[in-house]
Amino acid sequence: MFTRLLAFLSIVGYALSQNVGDPCTKLAGKKWVDPRDLRACFQSFNVDQAIKENIIEVVSKTLAFHTSVNYEIQAPPPFDKDVHEDLVADLARIKHESYPSDYDLHIDLSRTLKRLNDGHCVWINSCYVSSYLNFLPIPLVLLTDESGKQTVNIAPEAFSVASTEFSDQIQVWQDALPGVLKGKLQSLNGAEVLAINGQEPFIAVNANAAITGSFQGFGTRQNSFFSSYQRSTNTFNYLPGNFAQQSLPLSDSVVLDIVRVNNTKPEQITLPYRARINTALNFTNGASYRSINCSPTNTTNGVDVYATRQTVTPPSSDAIKFQQAPPMPQSKKQLVNVMLDATPLSNVVLPPELQPPSRPLDGSFGVGSFYDLDDGKTGVLALGSFSGADFNVMQEGMLKGLTEMKARGKTQLIVDVTNNGGGFICVAHWLHRIIAGPKDTTVPQAGLDTKARNPPLARAIVNEIVVNNRDPQLQLLYNPLQWNNASNQPFGAKENWLIPPVNVTINGRPDQFSQRLGQECQPFSSPPPDVALFDISKVAIVSNGRCASSCSLFSVTMKKLEGAKTVVVGGKKDVQQEYCGTVGGQSTDFATIDTEIKTVHLKNDSAAPPDLKVRGVQGITWRLGFALDNSGEPEEWKEHFADLNLPLTPALVNNPNAIWKEVASRLFT
Ligand SMILES: *[C@@H]1O[C@H](CO)[C@@H](O)[C@H](O)[C@H]1NC(C)=O
Ligand SMILES: *[C@@H]1O[C@H](CO)[C@@H](O)[C@H](O)[C@H]1NC(C)=O
Ligand SMILES: *[C@@H]1O[C@H](CO)[C@@H](O)[C@H](O)[C@H]1NC(C)=O
Ligand SMILES: *[C@@H]1O[C@H](CO)[C@@H](O)[C@H](O)[C@H]1NC(C)=O
Ligand SMILES: *[C@@H]1O[C@H](CO)[C@@H](O)[C@H](O)[C@H]1NC(C)=O
Ligand SMILES: *[C@@H]1O[C@H](CO)[C@@H](O)[C@H](O)[C@H]1NC(C)=O
Repeated sequence: MFTRLLAFLSIVGYALSQNVGDPCTKLAGKKWVDPRDLRACFQSFNVDQAIKENIIEVVSKTLAFHTSVNYEIQAPPPFDKDVHEDLVADLARIKHESYPSDYDLHIDLSRTLKRLNDGHCVWINSCYVSSYLNFLPIPLVLLTDESGKQTVNIAPEAFSVASTEFSDQIQVWQDALPGVLKGKLQSLNGAEVLAINGQEPFIAVNANAAITGSFQGFGTRQNSFFSSYQRSTNTFNYLPGNFAQQSLPLSDSVVLDIVRVNNTKPEQITLPYRARINTALNFTNGASYRSINCSPTNTTNGVDVYATRQTVTPPSSDAIKFQQAPPMPQSKKQLVNVMLDATPLSNVVLPPELQPPSRPLDGSFGVGSFYDLDDGKTGVLALGSFSGADFNVMQEGMLKGLTEMKARGKTQLIVDVTNNGGGFICVAHWLHRIIAGPKDTTVPQAGLDTKARNPPLARAIVNEIVVNNRDPQLQLLYNPLQWNNASNQPFGAKENWLIPPVNVTINGRPDQFSQRLGQECQPFSSPPPDVALFDISKVAIVSNGRCASSCSLFSVTMKKLEGAKTVVVGGKKDVQQEYCGTVGGQSTDFATIDTEIKTVHLKNDSAAPPDLKVRGVQGITWRLGFALDNSGEPEEWKEHFADLNLPLTPALVNNPNAIWKEVASRLFT
């Protein structure tokens, strides 16, 4: 016994001597932690100069392939106040700045990229981002009363969501409520919020809009503060919004002045944020946290796809887990345009009382599900993503669901794309084409013509492919056989499609792009119907504005070419609401570009980014869509104003079926 005690004490003594002053040990083995403790752990990591320089070099050299760097120095109206970030200058600033910790460096770097308000071009360091999620049990909503007055409220469903999702933590919050409110978290449902941390609520909403990134539109970024829903693979999920869920431990607690439902007396509450571990991390101290969670994985960097005797399919990159879409099979043939987000895909479920009352109809395929409204005339496609299922399953499901809907006599269609962050480009073209039928706006091009950025290294990659046959199995993005020219004619196998570059001046800076590219989706892998499935004047596209990438390709073409109606639900009434954003054209990331470079043996080119030494992802827009107005400018910074801004009431908020009925009655009668 005595010997065992001694042995035990010496182990403890050893552990203490190793971890003395290491704030990360306090977190080890815990599911829920105080965000202060988490921040103390993160801030205990010093800046390693070599790693800092590595990150900046990888990001800078990858940005040479991002189409929008010079455009984003100053976007035109209506985004002139939203997008004005000189990345090159800011990266130079960061290089010379010193930081108290690696976490503080991360925040500066990540916010610098987020200031682009471009969900395709973000820096995510998995060492910090979303390893824990920082929660409050009271998601907020923005409600409008009959007189048009808007108030910020605790979501009516807040307790239902929190008590289900956080059953092992709810008591901490119950006990934190003051006086008579102690244990009465449920009575906060629907309460009006008069002040957040002593200030008018929109001070906090707008402070979040300044750092949340992802969308150009200010209104869209305001909306990210509030809770919302999304159709997911087998249900509707609940997104708590940036107030109630943070991907970094930014806030420790919040003070709210509220008036509860059926009360008139203001009350003040203080609730702590609590951070929940998000990925299984088996660490005991700062050193093991870093080795488990911060070092590169075998998918952080690219690979030479022909290095082994058998061709390897390019690995799915680390970016996948930050795409606002369920994981999808990777294939170069099925190109994607999808947003990256520091917040992982939600797995919080929309409470049962808010789920649509009927089961999804025939043709439904996970992220896409079909419903009939009880007006006898309106069908609904709830489409939470343009990926997440097999490409062909999605195409077939869309056709089957819409064809049967039409056969049941539905003449009006609502497509709900709330929180649809994109996915397969050709599925977006397909949906446009089958709804609108064959016409000059859908055949052969149902999307946007595009251009790629054209730095010398990109031309050299194509040169290696066409001259030295570096891509015999058509695995690379830069292979000319992947693309068509502006007349939709395929390039030849020996054609360097980046020569000559198209020289342009953007915001006073010289830039180079590829020639205009046409479509690569048609002929589709299965035949589309030869008539339109719906009269487009009876089609409405509905969302909270958070429709991006391939979702934007679909929505923009449906609205601007075909005249579909667009609806944004919620949103501050004196702020212009955009029905989509972050259009792009085709997105990709550092690891994919690195695969291109390694496969053609150009890794030692001075413009090639080195391998990344941390577990990070840098996303980019690889091809940028041309505007539909024939101006020759990108569609990215054109207006996408919604036809209808539907105010949310307690009966409508986060209730998809109630929203669809309201939209149908307002738009189709
Ligand atoms: C508020 O008052 C109305 C009318 O009396 C009642 O129907 C409702 O249930 C009350 N709500 C709450 C949360 O007490
Ligand atoms: C977690 O760490 C402990 C101690 O190092 C080890 O015994 C255990 O196998 C690890 N578990 C996992 C799932 O990695
Ligand atoms: C990467 O590592 C994982 C395990 O960590 C392994 O299962 C996978 O096969 C590896 N992939 C490649 C391409 O080496
Ligand atoms: C596209 O390629 C075809 C065939 O080479 C050619 O005839 C046509 O002029 C090209 N179109 C453009 C816009 O370059
Ligand atoms: C485009 O710019 C490059 C680099 O500045 C220059 O060498 C080339 O001559 C220009 N091409 C045209 C067609 O102006
Ligand atoms: C690096 O570049 C040189 C030419 O500058 C070339 O001979 C060599 O093969 C390259 N090395 C690799 C590993 O690609």
